[in-house]
Amino acid sequence: MKKIATLIGLTTLLAAASQSSAATITLACGTVGQELQLCKDGAARWAKKTGNDVKIFESPNLTNDRLGLYQQQLAAKSSDIDVYQLDIVWPGLLAQHFVDLKGKVDLSGHFPGIVEANQVDDKQIAAPWFTDAGLLYYRTDLLKKYGYSAPPKTWAELATMAAKVQAGEQKTNKTFAGYVFQGKNYEGLTCNALEWLVSFGGGTVVDKTGKVTVNNAQAAKALDTAASWVGKISPKGVTTYDEEAARGIFQSGNAMFMRNWPYAWANGQSDESKVKGKIGVAPLPSGGARNAATLGGWNLGVSMYSKNQAAAIDLVKYLTGPEEQKIRAIEGTYNPTIPALYKDKDILKANPFFGSLFDVFTSAAARPSSPTKGKYNQVSQAFSTAVSSVLTGKQKGQAAVAKLSTDLARIKGRGW
Ligand code: GLC
Repeated sequence: MKKIATLIGLTTLLAAASQSSAATITLACGTVGQELQLCKDGAARWAKKTGNDVKIFESPNLTNDRLGLYQQQLAAKSSDIDVYQLDIVWPGLLAQHFVDLKGKVDLSGHFPGIVEANQVDDKQIAAPWFTDAGLLYYRTDLLKKYGYSAPPKTWAELATMAAKVQAGEQKTNKTFAGYVFQGKNYEGLTCNALEWLVSFGGGTVVDKTGKVTVNNAQAAKALDTAASWVGKISPKGVTTYDEEAARGIFQSGNAMFMRNWPYAWANGQSDESKVKGKIGVAPLPSGGARNAATLGGWNLGVSMYSKNQAAAIDLVKYLTGPEEQKIRAIEGTYNPTIPALYKDKDILKANPFFGSLFDVFTSAAARPSSPTKGKYNQVSQAFSTAVSSVLTGKQKGQAAVAKLSTDLARIKGRGW
């Protein structure tokens, strides 16, 4: 939590007119890609419409840091933040601090799976705002230059192609990388590694019934495969990269392939990008079992400690509604949680892969946050730590999954 969160006030034209009844709502939003700008813009539109005022609380980039900060606020029953942007894996960790939105926000038009993922014991902790799934970004110009007609379908193909392109490009650009991903030890590594495991048929660490399944040969093989990339097709430093670090390298023209979330598309196609017009998006490769993308996404919840719950709920209703989701999809490639918007012509024009990769979004693999409930964060940290030890060469896959299995059994205790 090194980053000091700042508060930026957004005053409205109408506020003066209805000052007596106007509320000031503080909205905590993310700052990855165009998140902050779009969050401010959306909040300002609501403020203008309703005569209320919104202050923006800038959250740190890493989801782990955000969680720590929010847990402190909530444990102190602080009323400083009214509306929180919540990660799809948090409801089980934070449920008791949020207002039940059931019957208060109409969620009938949203993907039912995402609505459910935001429920704990029948309580609607948050309303879906945008969804995420891991994608493979590639350079269309380099694909052609090196004689390939399509992006890789398997991890083995990716490794071969990345090695060839990297060797060629490094003749003139020493820093060029074959493949960049999120290899730092944090929640993003949990997301990347879950994709490797599922794509090799190695399960989801803990299955839907709460059983620890990670100690298996396919999971071990998946981790060893990823470790074989480090220092070969991926720079050694990949073990310190988060989403924005990987994006920076790819967007400045220094990588052939990148694993990232959809938001990287809007940034990659912007005028500041060196690879504008040279980017393709495909499903992540298979390890033999299937193509796997981890399900991510962010949702809006109202704090129980908010002193302005009615206005806060109204802000959530507005921001998660179709009009705002459309703007965010077009400007920042934040995937709507409303299926009907995937047929919207303007959205498809800005993000053609929303149509062609629709299945990737609807069949994404969930992290085991539902079965492990309030212990998910410990489970995820144990998992990413084990994965990190394999990526950095401290352990082989098999030893890592065996030890992780013991650690998870201890965390589980008599139950999740
Ligand atoms: C993205 C996802 C989120 C995930 C995070 C990991 O923000 O939407 O669900 O936890 O990345 O870094």
